[in-house]
Amino acid sequence: MKILILYASHSGNTESIALHAKDMLIDSGHQARLMDVSRDNELNLCGEDHIIFGCSTHGDGELNAEAEAFFDKLRAENADLDKVRAAIFGLGESVYPDFCRAAELAKDEFEFLNARVISPILKIDMMDFDQVKRTRDLSAWLDEVCRAFCMEADPDVWHSPTGAM
Ligand SMILES: Cc1cc2nc3c(=O)[nH]c(=O)nc-3n(C[C@H](O)[C@H](O)[C@H](O)COP(=O)(O)O)c2cc1C
Repeated sequence: MKILILYASHSGNTESIALHAKDMLIDSGHQARLMDVSRDNELNLCGEDHIIFGCSTHGDGELNAEAEAFFDKLRAENADLDKVRAAIFGLGESVYPDFCRAAELAKDEFEFLNARVISPILKIDMMDFDQVKRTRDLSAWLDEVCRAFCMEADPDVWHSPTGAM
């Protein structure tokens, strides 16, 4: 399966998780490629079927600046992502009251642009230093995402654009 991994990273942590995800997908036989939303200007998301989007939370539970600029641009272009199935992971720290809220905001943005977002969102707590668990969680989530990408007709898997299951 062809999968585009897009990431918006302020200080590099989301980038390294995205890179890890790409390696895992390739090891599982998928054609995965990686793009930085703030550096790759040739993004044509309308032509993509499967997108994994990762971003970190900054400020008081906000999208990081890179993700915000990315969604602003898509909104300004009136992008229509109705062919896109998206899965979202977020990075944050559980000491913050709005832990990983940017992942929820990214879900709203993708749904606003008519993409279908699959459940569940993966929230990665950077305060948890158990690397083995983090790798296991990422791997299990990617398996689930790939299964969901294949079973797009299953109403229990997809969120509708209104957020209802
Ligand atoms: C100024 C600042 C504000 C932050 N605010 C939040 C927050 O509201 N919620 C959260 O879960 N994490 C928050 N974080 C933690 C970051 O999401 C975390 O450090 C993450 O690993 C950064 O990833 P990045 O390097 O890809 O940007 C904040 C970090 C900084 C530096």
